[in-house]
Amino acid sequence: MKALVTRRFPGHVSERLKDVFDDVRESDDSAPLDRKRLLDRIRGVEVAVVSLTEIIDEEVLTAADKLKLIVTFSVGVDHIDLAAVKKRGIRLVHTPDVLTPATADLTLALVLASARRLKPGARFVEEGRFTGFDPDLFLGLELGQSVLGVVGLGKIGSAVAQRAIAFGMKVIYVSPSEKKPEFEATRMDLPTALQRSDIVTLHCPLNEKTRGMIGVKELQLLKPKACLVNTARGPLIDEKALYAHLRTRPECFAALDVFENEPEVVPGLASLPNALCLPHLGSATAWARGEMARVCWEEAQRFAKGEKLRYEYRFA
Ligand code: GLV
Repeated sequence: MKALVTRRFPGHVSERLKDVFDDVRESDDSAPLDRKRLLDRIRGVEVAVVSLTEIIDEEVLTAADKLKLIVTFSVGVDHIDLAAVKKRGIRLVHTPDVLTPATADLTLALVLASARRLKPGARFVEEGRFTGFDPDLFLGLELGQSVLGVVGLGKIGSAVAQRAIAFGMKVIYVSPSEKKPEFEATRMDLPTALQRSDIVTLHCPLNEKTRGMIGVKELQLLKPKACLVNTARGPLIDEKALYAHLRTRPECFAALDVFENEPEVVPGLASLPNALCLPHLGSATAWARGEMARVCWEEAQRFAKGEKLRYEYRFA
């Protein structure tokens, strides 16, 4: 059986695959395969291990004439044309669960950083403007007196909510599911949650229903000193509208780990004092990335051996 590994992943994914696959094609360097090489190398392989920077669309799937399994080193599957994959009977594996704590931790770091104005505070010292303790300097939000609005209460959203509760926050949430969480949280519709939250954090998958869910209209519902955190997917927010919102409301904060057109960021956004921007670090702990790699090679090996898959994505 032939496999393709589109970039160098941690945990020696290609090496592990070589134990069970006759032929493992890989990237020649640590950069992911560019589109041309992807189209070329995916031909004839049964299993492809990809990352979220490779767009798996009709063109790639047409080139992938023998493909039976896609393994993506991510929990998100929005870089994959799910309908086209399903139609071809190709199976899909992703890496949920193992990255939940790391992503929830980073989200809390961003909640704290925006609530407590870490970026403007750090800049202030860096620029040599600190002249001594000032009781009015960079007053932020008290978490124990604040409401966190969690938009999307899946595994990561729930882990964030539980962490926030430990910090004394009141949690409200937006979810299509009527299932009650096991912790204290109140379900609301999106406009109400945006109006009532001091900090809003997004945790929905990106799909046609959620793309652009935070635009001009929704931003206007936010409280004047609200913080908006996004560790999910950039296109959930209209980034240009957010930039305009933050420019005219210096008391409003955003902490973003993901962007609409990654790796591009709307010009000027990252340098705003009230915008903290990170390079997609949600699952970036050595443990989580190692576990994601383990899930990838174990699942590919299971498939090659005809065993049951444990992390198969369930198509709608
Ligand atoms: C990261 O964004 C992931 O989907 O794993």
